Amino acid sequence: MKPVKIALLTGGGDCPGLNAVIRAVVRKGQLSYGDQLVGFTDGWRGALENTHISLDVARCRGILPRGGTMLGSSRTNPARVPGGMERVIANVEKLGIDGIIPIGGDDTLSVAHALAGMGVRVVGVPKTIDNDLRGTEVTFGFHTAVQTATDAIDRLHTTAESHDRVIVCEVMGRHAGWIALYAGIAGGAAEIVIPEEPFDVAAICHRLTERHQKGRYASVVVIAEGAVPKGGTLTTASRELDQFGHVRLGGIGAALAEEIERITGMEARVTTLGHIQRGGTPTAFDRVLATRFGIAAIDAMHRDETDVMVALVAGEIVTVPFEVALSSPKTVDPALLHEVAEMFFS
Ligand code: F6P
Repeated sequence: MKPVKIALLTGGGDCPGLNAVIRAVVRKGQLSYGDQLVGFTDGWRGALENTHISLDVARCRGILPRGGTMLGSSRTNPARVPGGMERVIANVEKLGIDGIIPIGGDDTLSVAHALAGMGVRVVGVPKTIDNDLRGTEVTFGFHTAVQTATDAIDRLHTTAESHDRVIVCEVMGRHAGWIALYAGIAGGAAEIVIPEEPFDVAAICHRLTERHQKGRYASVVVIAEGAVPKGGTLTTASRELDQFGHVRLGGIGAALAEEIERITGMEARVTTLGHIQRGGTPTAFDRVLATRFGIAAIDAMHRDETDVMVALVAGEIVTVPFEVALSSPKTVDPALLHEVAEMFFS
């Protein structure tokens, strides 16, 4: 198989396991195919401004357990810059790049899909702690975020018990409540609130009051940042839009804690986990998944695939068209919340 020149980039919010993907692509590309590898820095910004570094096995030593991304990341969207997509293509041609492996979520991969439509060879790798990309059972980073949130909930339980308090724990999850649901179940939450279903503050307060009337009973309420009260709107930390049109979320946990205290008279506190969920070393599961994704992505390049994303389906790594992956966010089926998690709410 003839060696090619491949560019990698990491876009959007970072996530544990990005470096493991980079290492896997570089190692397989260089050692099995004799490929030349470069990394655009800071996501699509690097492709737009032609800032890149060369990558090889030596340069990737020691990065497997490191969180973050050695390439840097940004939410730059070349489609929002006049002539931006054409500039990316011109840079790709100037560098003699045969294909791009972008590692990112729906925003980053939507740019990849558009470039594929313009003739650039692209194989994507799905990344997001939110786990909201369709076409793959799970994205790397999710498992680490859930573990971090679960550890935090365990800690919140002991202090909530000491003071007979309600503690609201706000986790990430813009469109999808996967982190809230999984960490809530794993951490034995008294309530789990997800973006998929508008929540009823009065009903939550009623259940918490009943629960505490049964005796001294600490309650941890897990809420995703994208959750919305019935008849209400998203709570945002800033109304400013990023280049993909998203506002910065944050604050719904504090608002809910305030309401709980006001309505029930119980003491309530809030903890927002924020970027703690995105930082730090990936779990073993995420390192393995990221490694498998990286190897599969470079293999797919050498099979001349394009406009696809590698994915985990029934335990196997396959490729799925971007069109499928980007059709809509993969959200939580509320049945899972009602049938499993709610069993433990009372
Ligand atoms: O990447 C997804 C995500 O983790 C969302 O859950 C969250 O809303 C967002 O990133 C935060 O992004 P930033 O780091 O740009 O504030």
